[in-house]
Amino acid sequence: MSFREITEADRDWVRNIVTRHFASQRVVSRGKLYDAQALPGFILERNGSAAGLYQYHATDRELQLVVVAAVQAGHGIGRQLLEHALSFARSRLCQRVWLVTTNDNTQAIGFYRHIGWHQYAVHLDAVTTARSIKPEIPLTDGAGVAIRDEVEFEFLLD
Ligand SMILES: CC(C)(COP(=O)(O)OP(=O)(O)OC[C@H]1O[C@@H](n2cnc3c(N)ncnc32)[C@H](O)[C@@H]1OP(=O)(O)O)[C@@H](O)C(=O)NCCC(=O)NCCS
Repeated sequence: MSFREITEADRDWVRNIVTRHFASQRVVSRGKLYDAQALPGFILERNGSAAGLYQYHATDRELQLVVVAAVQAGHGIGRQLLEHALSFARSRLCQRVWLVTTNDNTQAIGFYRHIGWHQYAVHLDAVTTARSIKPEIPLTDGAGVAIRDEVEFEFLLD
């Protein structure tokens, strides 16, 4: 298992995995639009192939994880991705690592809680705003749950 930075050669793979999980390669978080093709990040390789990635937006002392995705859930990839992200954030002297997911994504919410991240806020109706920027966000998920709120998680570093 190893991590490497995303390069131009990975862009097709990044487009595919991000589109699968985020409905397009455009990602809206806290009212800001990000293009996954342009975001820096890291790929986790296992047995010679890409098993997951995270992409970030860095600001002064904070690292926002805009995209976190495992090719296959439930194989320890997500935990490895976030441990690497915390180490990377420490190396940049960040004090806070944070991300948002949506209220319907109970899989991700359970995962972040389980690995010890703090649920910092629920931004009610934030997805309604996001949808005005990114109309391809569906109104409901596959189970019919309204996709409406952004749930923000954080991990504070010493
Ligand atoms: C969310 C996601 C990144 C989690 O990654 P994963 O590889 O499935 O998670 P892991 O296998 O590393 O799980 C790590 C631990 O969390 C636990 N866990 C995972 N999902 C859980 C859940 N919903 N509830 C409780 N615990 C959970 C696992 O059991 C495991 O526990 P352990 O290490 O103590 O045995 C992954 O499912 C994914 O890519 N989902 C699609 C994209 C997405 O929604 N991204 C997040 C939005 S930004």
